[in-house]
Amino acid sequence: MAAQNNAPLPEGLEIAGYRIVKKIASGGFSIVYLAYDAEGSAVAIKEYLPSALALRQAGELAPSIARPNQPLFRIGLKCFFEEGRALARIVHPNVVRILNFFRANDTVYMVMAYESGQSLQEQIARTREKNGAGGAWLGEGFIRKTFDGVCRGLRETHANKLLHLDLKPANIYLRSDGSPILLDFGAARQAVGLDAPMLAPMYTPGFAPPDLYTKGAALGPWSDIYSLGAAMFACMTGAPPQAADARKLDDKLGAQFDMLLGTYSPELIAMVRACLALDPMARPQSVFAVQKVLQAAPARPLAVDAAAPHAAPAAGLRGLLGRIGVFKRTRGD
Ligand SMILES: Nc1ncnc2c1ncn2[C@@H]1O[C@H](COP(=O)(O)OP(=O)(O)O)[C@@H](O)[C@H]1O
Ligand SMILES: [Mg+2]
Repeated sequence: MAAQNNAPLPEGLEIAGYRIVKKIASGGFSIVYLAYDAEGSAVAIKEYLPSALALRQAGELAPSIARPNQPLFRIGLKCFFEEGRALARIVHPNVVRILNFFRANDTVYMVMAYESGQSLQEQIARTREKNGAGGAWLGEGFIRKTFDGVCRGLRETHANKLLHLDLKPANIYLRSDGSPILLDFGAARQAVGLDAPMLAPMYTPGFAPPDLYTKGAALGPWSDIYSLGAAMFACMTGAPPQAADARKLDDKLGAQFDMLLGTYSPELIAMVRACLALDPMARPQSVFAVQKVLQAAPARPLAVDAAAPHAAPAAGLRGLLGRIGVFKRTRGD
């Protein structure tokens, strides 16, 4: 089932009281548009359109979905909708604000507050361009401050009995004042992935916890905490950590952490290392525990912040939702 290239909705289209301005991003799973609402406020509209299942030709509005793909398309659509509805309950400065949902064109649309900025992934890439491979990456001060905000958003998510499950630098958006926002909660993707292994990989290798690779493994805050550690690791090294399944066979992370010792404080390294433990029980057991380390001042001055001026900017549905969307509070957070 080859991925297809879907045509975006045309610019200027009026849809459910919104006017589409332009496409701002498209992944294999959805297309995101900048649009204006009736009051003229900017919104971001995310259209559910998994390219492996649905094809929209230029000039058409509704996608065509081959009959064998229809059940999966519907499962994904339901999860996209359910997850968004749950997310809509969360009103927090570090979580993308969901404003509305609507159905049109045989699919579903999620309306979000529009945020102006760039993703943490773009920030990492820019740093790589500037410093070259092997140069200093994002500074410790930047990492502590940014991920303190990420932890705030994640704590609120967990307090609402939701998991993110697709935490990675591409899904952490930085406003122009540097404050982070969690985007793109992964449950709908999970649904499609679990019901159709042939559509895998649904997760980005390196950021996904081993819990997601292991069939039937319990998912919980500890799963997001692994990805949180992986995202911090990417800020420190410029690349994702080795994928969890490969680590189980031949773990190369230890040597990489040792190399970071001169650049980052031992406290930060130890915390990130603990987040990335393959055994869920060996990870910090709550986002709050991670946040406490981020907020504590390191014991010694940090060379990297002085050396890197870029581093401190101004500031199957069956049982599935039970496994992913709503977790049982067996551990504290
Ligand atoms: N609320 C938003 N405001 C501004 N840009 C957004 C918003 N939501 C998503 N985007 C843009 O769209 C991109 C993809 O969004 P995301 O939700 O991660 O979808 P995908 O499933 O394609 O990864 C983001 O990296 C960002 O550039
Ligand atoms: Mg994304």
